[in-house]
Amino acid sequence: MERDWARKAVSAEEAVGLIQSGMNVFVHGAAATPTPLLKAMVGRNALEGVRLYHIHTAGETPFIEPGCEGRFFSISLFTGAALRKPIEEGRADFIPIFLSDIPALFQSGRIRLDVALLQLSPPDMHGLCTLGTSVDTAKAAADSATIIIAEINEQMPRTHGNTVVPFERIAAFLHTDRPLIEQYPEPETEVEARIGEIVAGLVEDGSTLQMGIGAIPDAALLRLREKRDLGIHSEMFSDRVVELFEAGAITNRFKSVHPNRIVTSFVSGTKKLFRFVHDNPLVEFHPCDRTNNTTLIRRNDKVVAINSCLQVDLTGQVCADSIGHRIYSGIGGQMDFIRGAALSRGGKPILALRSTAAGGKISRIVPELNPGGGVVTTRGHVHWVITEYGAVNLHGMTLRERGNALISIAHPDFRAGLAKALAAIRRFTVTGLG
Ligand code: COA
Repeated sequence: MERDWARKAVSAEEAVGLIQSGMNVFVHGAAATPTPLLKAMVGRNALEGVRLYHIHTAGETPFIEPGCEGRFFSISLFTGAALRKPIEEGRADFIPIFLSDIPALFQSGRIRLDVALLQLSPPDMHGLCTLGTSVDTAKAAADSATIIIAEINEQMPRTHGNTVVPFERIAAFLHTDRPLIEQYPEPETEVEARIGEIVAGLVEDGSTLQMGIGAIPDAALLRLREKRDLGIHSEMFSDRVVELFEAGAITNRFKSVHPNRIVTSFVSGTKKLFRFVHDNPLVEFHPCDRTNNTTLIRRNDKVVAINSCLQVDLTGQVCADSIGHRIYSGIGGQMDFIRGAALSRGGKPILALRSTAAGGKISRIVPELNPGGGVVTTRGHVHWVITEYGAVNLHGMTLRERGNALISIAHPDFRAGLAKALAAIRRFTVTGLG
């Protein structure tokens, strides 16, 4: 279709003119957030009662600025920094849900989508755009929404896998040529480096890795350069995976599901990462009900799932989505991969966390979770828990054994208090650690 398509572009204001009051609108997330369309939508003063469904978005969030009350209502299915306060203050809301279950919400019509606001790569010679860096929940939204309004960005990578949106499905589009929003890895702390070393020590050659967002999974990835024949099957990945690939540690040779390919549903990182995934048949993007399907995850051997959390109680209940009642992120893919790894032959489900928070003032290993804290990984699903003080595998341990195991990897300043609490809860006399 050469460049004929580009002549059909309209302004952002005209494109969002298709949105009407009371509609349900899906917003593409992470690096694919269609910011110019969001700004134009918020600029339409007559719109009221528009519900916005999204996972974490990147960049500006004009729809929660003052003056948007009653006009736009944000509903996060997994959230990030910009929406935490609005959710806490009741100006936005949150749906606790497995990432793998979100596509069916849209497909079944349980959440009826009128509009999908997407950022897409330009159409190819066959008239096919792609969802670029974020396929996750966006594919189901694109397939289910009545109207697609797009930003077609010359700089959005064309990605392989199940990522296609036919140009003819798009009702109106804005044509841009702008860099995607980048996320840079933070320099790691000593504690994160130590946790990374311990996690890396559990990873055998030939393992298939999943890793969550954040400093701890990144710290582990940095220490896997000497490993061989690693595979990647993960709901997301960042620049560290590209570095590992370049170091020759990733071949995907031993994967049973999509062998010889990296499998993901979205990526978040820098230009280097975006260049890596552009038109790269070695990287397959799939919707998150496929990447996070435990039946598929378990078919790979030696799946190592590396995730993080906010608090763990002495029975092994893992809080990862909130600090007390304050929603911090979401359930995401943690349970999908923790369970998938547990079912994989030789698999290792790992939760790795710093032993303390608030500059060392609070232990993250606690007798009980803060009131309102959400259990993401249950004590039935938990296996490996790792802090900078070591690694314990709680699977098959009694309540007393797991309590003691967790205390052994708590920060030394908190061990005596935790041991007393454990003895009181489980009604035994404190020995050793007391
Ligand atoms: N009490 C009080 N504050 C706490 C706390 C606690 N128990 N635990 C953490 N915090 C604070 C930290 O001090 C930190 O504050 P800061 O931002 O001021 O430094 C903040 O909360 C975040 O904690 P941190 O451990 O740095 O978070 P992270 O960026 O490493 O992310 C999760 C950890 C759990 C939020 C993240 O892994 C997540 O969202 N997981 C759930 C979903 C998931 O696992 N998906 C997997 C595939 S993506």
